[in-house]
Amino acid sequence: MSSQPANANRQILLAERPSGEPRESSFRLAEGPVPDPGEDEVLVRSLFLSVDPYMRGRMRDVKSYAPPIQLDEVMVGGVVGEVVRSNQSGLETGDIVLGMLGWQDYAVAKPGQLHKLDPRIQPISLALGVLGMPGLTAYFGLLDIGQPKDGETVVVSAASGAVGAVVGQIAKIKGCRVVGTAGSDAKVEYIMNELGFDAGINYKTAGNLGAALDAACPAGIDVYFDNVGGPLTDAVIARINERARLIICGQISQYNAEKPEMGPRNLFHFIRARARMEGFLIFDHAARYAEGQAALGQWIVDGKIKYREDVMDGLENAPKAFIRMLRGENFGKQLVHVADPSA
Ligand SMILES: NC(=O)c1ccc[n+]([C@@H]2O[C@H](COP(=O)([O-])OP(=O)(O)OC[C@H]3O[C@@H](n4cnc5c(N)ncnc54)[C@H](OP(=O)(O)O)[C@@H]3O)[C@@H](O)[C@H]2O)c1
Repeated sequence: MSSQPANANRQILLAERPSGEPRESSFRLAEGPVPDPGEDEVLVRSLFLSVDPYMRGRMRDVKSYAPPIQLDEVMVGGVVGEVVRSNQSGLETGDIVLGMLGWQDYAVAKPGQLHKLDPRIQPISLALGVLGMPGLTAYFGLLDIGQPKDGETVVVSAASGAVGAVVGQIAKIKGCRVVGTAGSDAKVEYIMNELGFDAGINYKTAGNLGAALDAACPAGIDVYFDNVGGPLTDAVIARINERARLIICGQISQYNAEKPEMGPRNLFHFIRARARMEGFLIFDHAARYAEGQAALGQWIVDGKIKYREDVMDGLENAPKAFIRMLRGENFGKQLVHVADPSA
């Protein structure tokens, strides 16, 4: 089990801007005093932290939808934590909260930075997974942009992951034929046998991806939820149906690339199919998170959405958890368990 110091704050800092795959030495563990909350501020102790693909982008010094992490700054990230001191009305010691507090044992949050969680919703780590950013990404990305209809074929990549697994299950709820791609036979078995997908493709061993998609999607592809980009996306584009909708959610196959791959070149298929491709960013949907959480929560209660977590223990292991997730060694939502709640 992890041991969290009571009177010191461990922090994982960005030590270098990695070229290619991040290494453990791309990060540095530092220790300092536990910060003091000021007026209207709250001191939070981390319990779970999330490691997510977008963090690879923040390690680069390039213009994006969010500013880069600076060298020697704490790694960003969503945290579920416990309030240990509060100078803010509405939050009390012992409350379980969600916030972008970063890879550290303790953080001070300003007004508006925390979201109080309902402790009856267990496990509390769901707020970082199916009921949090990844689940909401699946919900709004698929339903708003993808608009899946009964009987249509939906393909989702990184299908066993935090976002992909929820996308596929929502598409099943909407009556679609659902095809997932994933990087191991165990993941393909999981999406088919546990999550009820109609077909699965191990993109690492399938050989000819186009032939594998033809076999799995005999009626073509109406909706593609793209988490990975690269050759798989090219193969999907060649098989889109008229009026297909493509949700560009992630391009993880490119995140470690020093030079982005060329492509896609086969855009003529969009003319043939009069199809649409749209980039998606979850923060655009912040005003509707409650709606998404309510729907996802009900589907979990009804047994229509299952989830899987992959939990690594110890704040000091956050870099390891991040690196293994980027390599596809995670099986389910990758989390880091930092400490248990006090009560
Ligand atoms: N736009 C947004 O607002 C938004 C929000 C959340 C997430 N996302 C994106 O959604 C995607 C999934 O995120 P997640 O949190 O659910 O992560 P995840 O799927 O739980 O974990 C990442 C997975 O990506 C796959 N992967 C890694 N390298 C790959 C490669 N070269 N080619 C194909 N697949 C590869 C691996 O699965 P396999 O074993 O199957 O390869 C790995 O398990 C990411 O691209 C992320 O950036 C976007």
